[in-house]
Amino acid sequence: MTGERQIHNLALIGFMGTGKSSVGRLAAAQLGYELIDTDEWIERRAKKSITKIFAEDGEPAFREIERQLVAEMTGWRQKIISTGGGLAANDANIASLKQHALIVCLWATPEAIWERVSHQAHRPLLQGPDPLGKIRTLLEQRTPFYRQADVLVHTGTRSVREVAQHVLHQFQIARARVPDGERTH
Ligand code: S3P
Repeated sequence: MTGERQIHNLALIGFMGTGKSSVGRLAAAQLGYELIDTDEWIERRAKKSITKIFAEDGEPAFREIERQLVAEMTGWRQKIISTGGGLAANDANIASLKQHALIVCLWATPEAIWERVSHQAHRPLLQGPDPLGKIRTLLEQRTPFYRQADVLVHTGTRSVREVAQHVLHQFQIARARVPDGERTH
């Protein structure tokens, strides 16, 4: 971490079903920060569901909205940013997030991810005939991006509460490294 690094926000990245939203909710409550869920934000702005955006406008259009949202974040303060699983699979988005946020990646195995998402139907990328295979392929493609996070947290058998505590601890350590003069609060 360089001296110029500003840690105003906490960004949670990682694959679908790794617990970003649940962990984000707990962390936000504990810190008194506002939680921004990028998928919810995009649905509000587009006035339609993620599923509809993918079906009617295509994935590239969705990625473009994500990119625009990431650009807007640079002035944000005291936010927990829970990102959609593909948002960080992009070097420019990661570089932009690093300007203002500590990036924490929540990690899980493909099997654990499948167990967590198999009963949910709102993820367009997993609607094909072999969702577990798709999870494996996507996770492999995205691993080099996810590894660029400041902190990688294996969710494994940990509860959401335990993961949130660990994430908050890492956030506090990172914030303590930033000299007081650079703090905004
Ligand atoms: C996606 C993950 C989803 C959502 C969209 C695409 C992905 O978010 O952004 O369906 O590319 O992995 P969650 O990670 O919150 O499920």
